[in-house]
Amino acid sequence: MFTYNDSKIKIVEVGPRDGLQNEKISLQLEDKMQYISLLAQAGLQTIEATSFVRADKIPQMADAKELFLQLKKQEYFHHINFPCLVPNRKGYEAAKAVGVREISLFSATSDEFSLKNINCTVDESFKRMQEVATLAKEEGIKIRGYISTAFGCPYAGDIGVKKLVEVIEKFEELGVYEISIGDTIGVGTPKQVDDYLKEVLKVISVEKIAMHFHDTRGMALSNILVSLEHGVSVFDSSSGGLGGCPYAKGATGNVATEDIYYLLNSLGLVTNLDLNKLYLASKFILEKVQKQSPSKFFQILEQKQGKV
Ligand code: HMG
Ligand code: MG
Repeated sequence: MFTYNDSKIKIVEVGPRDGLQNEKISLQLEDKMQYISLLAQAGLQTIEATSFVRADKIPQMADAKELFLQLKKQEYFHHINFPCLVPNRKGYEAAKAVGVREISLFSATSDEFSLKNINCTVDESFKRMQEVATLAKEEGIKIRGYISTAFGCPYAGDIGVKKLVEVIEKFEELGVYEISIGDTIGVGTPKQVDDYLKEVLKVISVEKIAMHFHDTRGMALSNILVSLEHGVSVFDSSSGGLGGCPYAKGATGNVATEDIYYLLNSLGLVTNLDLNKLYLASKFILEKVQKQSPSKFFQILEQKQGKV
């Protein structure tokens, strides 16, 4: 137990994208800017800012262009990575036009989910992504990959590790620098994560893997611990534990960044996060979307007003 890789852990904060994409209350651009600014002040270096998708499909991300232009204007943000989700050539051109330097391409292991989410099968999505990846490489834009439904699909059930490995290999061929394995509906368990990572790490080096756990069944931290033991050092999370995908039935929030902080800190792993400032960022956005955080640790922070 606890034979994890003790190198520095990277947190990819997905609050402004995954955290907000499912929220019903429409946020003002200045509130999103303030949220991102608070996250940056808390020490987060990689903040997934937005997605260049159809506004009628994900209304909360309709201001992607304006948001990114605002981010670029702020000197303060120049040292921060702001990856953005891009589903196809149209999204890529829009992202490139406003100066996005890192894109996240996304697919899934399940055709059923993929059709609902991006209106094409997994194989078709790779044809679209190949075109984008070729352009992005020519233009020096970094590419991250996301695989949804890795541990189970709300429509097709368990897909199995063989398909996950196949999709990882396809992403490798696209030339992504990192692949985020997504438990879209939070069904994964420690045993499954352990079994799957054993297979996954036969085909890809651990440095290229990130884990993206939604905490629907309270398994995210246990799954992260198992991932750490396999040497994974990149985790996606959302401040306050907001999140979910409107096209994944039953999906709830990402693991809270505060929860990951608490776990990593207990293991002596370095995150460079300022917990009090992180709390302020989460408190700000939770008030804006009028939600309580599902994170137990955040609730304790709330009682102590961020001071632990
Ligand atoms: P489509 O309808 O198949 O696209 O949408 P199309 O090529 O057939 O075009 C139809 C219309 O959409 C056209 O407009 C296009 O111009 C327009 P019209 O001529 O009819 O006026 N269009 C676009 N508009 C804006 N941006 C674009 C774009 N592309 C085409 N990029 C598409 C395909 C993927 C765009 C659509 O299905 C979509 O936007 N889906 C939303 C996907 C999404 O954002 N899902 C949530 C993020 S994924 C996630 O949360 C999972 C993750 O967190 C990991 C995990 O937890 O598992 C990453
Ligand atoms: Mg997600």
